Amino acid sequence: MLKLIGVETFYGKIKALHGISLKVLEGQLVCILGANGAGKSTILKSITGLVKPEYGTIHFKGRRIDQMDSEDIVKLSIGHVPEWRRIFSELTVYENLLMGGFLLKDDDLIHERMEEAFQHFPILKKRKTQQAGNMSGGEQQMLAISRALMLKPKLLLLDEPSLGLSPLLVQDIFATIKELHESGVTILMVEQNVNQALKIADYGYVLTTGKIFLSGTYKDLLEEEKVREQYLGEGKYNRRAKVWSG
Ligand SMILES: Nc1ncnc2c1ncn2[C@@H]1O[C@H](COP(=O)(O)OP(=O)(O)OP(=O)(O)O)[C@@H](O)[C@H]1O
Ligand SMILES: [Mg+2]
Repeated sequence: MLKLIGVETFYGKIKALHGISLKVLEGQLVCILGANGAGKSTILKSITGLVKPEYGTIHFKGRRIDQMDSEDIVKLSIGHVPEWRRIFSELTVYENLLMGGFLLKDDDLIHERMEEAFQHFPILKKRKTQQAGNMSGGEQQMLAISRALMLKPKLLLLDEPSLGLSPLLVQDIFATIKELHESGVTILMVEQNVNQALKIADYGYVLTTGKIFLSGTYKDLLEEEKVREQYLGEGKYNRRAKVWSG
């Protein structure tokens, strides 16, 4: 469904991606792992055209998309839930979902999709008229995902869905992502919660400073000592603890 070959993306003169190649098959849940600044968000932004790769190619369903405008890429049915769930905090849950369905231009369809979102996230139905910014972090993340689902994307990109959530809410959000995956949505997810993310993913890529240095299934990656040490907190140096303590 999605294939990146040798993608190199720059911010000015700074090279953020040093030749990324990866693929996502239809129906898969694929995870990109890596420390702060590794280039995870830049991969997702390169796919949705928010930044343009200088070199390399990106194909989605057989079509080359790396030179297309981001609005056209969204219309190809790629949903992007950015880091820190950028919802409209002044608006209600209902209004946020309406905005998500704006491109549909069909009221009946918009309300049908909204009901589907409520089936995945019943709490949002209860909070329908609440101002989005007043909800808990987990509820806001559910809203951000639901907003992206309004357009029924064939591919959903999730940027650190568990960021800033308490351990209990992290469990909830991963359970929901697993459900979405099982209902047939193809997902490419960026995460720092390595253990939990890999448990639900079909395949994982580990990124360090703009390069993929390992890839494999949860079992493959668990067998890699470097992954256990640096990302699962089993070694002398626990990178995750370092991230959380700021
Ligand atoms: N708008 C920007 N302008 C300049 N440099 C940027 C910009 N956005 C990101 N970078 C740089 O590109 C590199 C990759 O950033 P990116 O946001 O993709 O990392 P990340 O893996 O998502 O990190 P985090 O886990 O902190 O979200 C970093 O060195 C970062 O400083
Ligand atoms: Mg990021």
